[in-house]
Amino acid sequence: MRILIASSIDPEAIAKLREQHEVVCAFNASEEKFKSLIRDREVLICRSGVRISAALMSCAPALQLIIRAGSGTDNIDLDYVRRHGIRLERIPEPGAKAVAELTFALMLALARNLLNADRMLRQGHFAKHELSGYSLRGKVLGIIGAGNIGAFVGEMGAAWGMKVLGCVENPSPEVAAELAGKGIQLTDCDEVVAKADFLSLHVPLTNATRNMINAEVFSRMKSGSYLINLARGGVVDEAALHQALTEGKTLRGAALDVHQVEKEGHISPLAALPNVVLTPHIGAQTIEAQREIGGRILEIMDSMAAYKFVHETKPSPVSTKFFPARVESVLRATGRHCHFTETIELNLNAIKCFAF
Ligand code: MLT
Repeated sequence: MRILIASSIDPEAIAKLREQHEVVCAFNASEEKFKSLIRDREVLICRSGVRISAALMSCAPALQLIIRAGSGTDNIDLDYVRRHGIRLERIPEPGAKAVAELTFALMLALARNLLNADRMLRQGHFAKHELSGYSLRGKVLGIIGAGNIGAFVGEMGAAWGMKVLGCVENPSPEVAAELAGKGIQLTDCDEVVAKADFLSLHVPLTNATRNMINAEVFSRMKSGSYLINLARGGVVDEAALHQALTEGKTLRGAALDVHQVEKEGHISPLAALPNVVLTPHIGAQTIEAQREIGGRILEIMDSMAAYKFVHETKPSPVSTKFFPARVESVLRATGRHCHFTETIELNLNAIKCFAF
């Protein structure tokens, strides 16, 4: 198939895709370049940071599949995708654990003043007595959005001896029981905000969540609390955050992995504050998570190839010698469409498939 990879993904997955597909990579392409490259593509693979707008997709009449190599879909015009019957595959699980781990890294960085400690020591200042921090144990961890990622964060918080409060939209008794089993007590959003020593955000960016953490929310937070955002930049009103950190009485510090503006060369006004830790949207950026996502991309492509083969191939014997073993198993799973006879052909353990 003809694939456009618009964001950097696991290099091994790209190499494997190239073995069977016609692949074009366009990382950081301009809008014009992107529009010209997508013109004949059947598959688009992307992460966050790439805007998949209706205008872009309307340049791609052959587009059948978008693989979102991660979780959030706020960068994709879902309405266009639905109306044009484009298949959308998300791969949320592998990145979730990595994001949860970074949430903890940032919480500790804030509570123990790690970045300032590092900077001081690099300048020769052994500031042991200026660097008293706070413990996590015994503190309240508040999770706004106790879904997939939020639940991992809550579970880790409970293991660190924190009291974990979380909120989700319309939780069923089953979800509440499952979260309780992980040490997360569900309550309403207002209580989470009011009681949290560490308030961690894990909601998708939607019209309902845009700027949901604003000046009014900061004024209701506990004195000496911290905000951690690994959800989406647009969920926090960053101007209000700046004000809360400089003039407010509640927030002690904030750590942001996601930002309202995410682009090379941009420096946030928050970067001037010593009680802020900033990272460039690296939540899911571990070798393991990206490798797992790469593996899932290959599986999705194989199932797509198998689906097309079964549904679009005329009922005649076809050699599938160029198909990898994974495709073979997917085809086998669709047993009512195919049966197989194994042959050896050109040193390849080829399978002949007769599609009915
Ligand atoms: C995600 O939504 O999965 C994360 O933001 C990671 C990414 O796509 O870069």
